[in-house]
Amino acid sequence: MMANRVFQLTDAHLFVDAETEFCGVRPYEGFVRIWNAVAAQLTDGDIVVISGDLAQDEKLETYKVLRELLADHLQQCRLIPGNHDNREAMHEVFPEIIQSNGSHICFCSTLGAWQILGLDSRVDGSVYGRIEADQVTWLSAQLDTACSENALLFLHHHPIDIGSPWMDAIGLTERGALFDYLQKRPAAIKLICNGHIHQEFEGNIGNIAVLGTPSTAFQFRPKQDKAEYDDLAAGYRVMILEGAGWRSEVVRVL
Ligand SMILES: [Fe+2]
Repeated sequence: MMANRVFQLTDAHLFVDAETEFCGVRPYEGFVRIWNAVAAQLTDGDIVVISGDLAQDEKLETYKVLRELLADHLQQCRLIPGNHDNREAMHEVFPEIIQSNGSHICFCSTLGAWQILGLDSRVDGSVYGRIEADQVTWLSAQLDTACSENALLFLHHHPIDIGSPWMDAIGLTERGALFDYLQKRPAAIKLICNGHIHQEFEGNIGNIAVLGTPSTAFQFRPKQDKAEYDDLAAGYRVMILEGAGWRSEVVRVL
């Protein structure tokens, strides 16, 4: 059976100047290294999701730099914003691949037997995230229209606590509307992948797997009371979807 793959790159924290150092790394260099590793193996049956914090400086020019990097595979790329992002700039620079449900950025793509969806958890002016009731309505409509029984959902913010109090204070807040929906239709969404936490993580909401992915820039050490950098290499996550089954791994790129 033909497998489809979804590559997740997250938390690029790019600046318009490729030389800029931030949190001990050059975000541009890390992103290029990881993007090159992913792009070299992309086939037509794959999708790439970049799950927020694309541009640390939130400048239009920085999104243009990102567009140049992604150019050869742009149609396979899906983007959602993080707390460090500018929705208007994303719409302007990526008009072909940025969708909206009216209030927020979103995407829904069919890949084999799967629906791959993204929701925008950004709250303007805040580090924490939120999913509004109208976004849950949109999500529900997508899955119902597609009669989907296999869905993979991307969010920037982590939907459950990861055991680091400082990070859990800036995760997804007011989870009620989304969690109520997940409980109502538990068979559809099989896994949720998030960014924001800059570390590998595996948890669950009932039967739904929740997977966190390292940043392409700097890493945070798991299970800490306060923010602490980790010296692990940057990386990406790949989900391999085969029929209704899935498996996933994090790949670090030196
Ligand atoms: Fe980030």
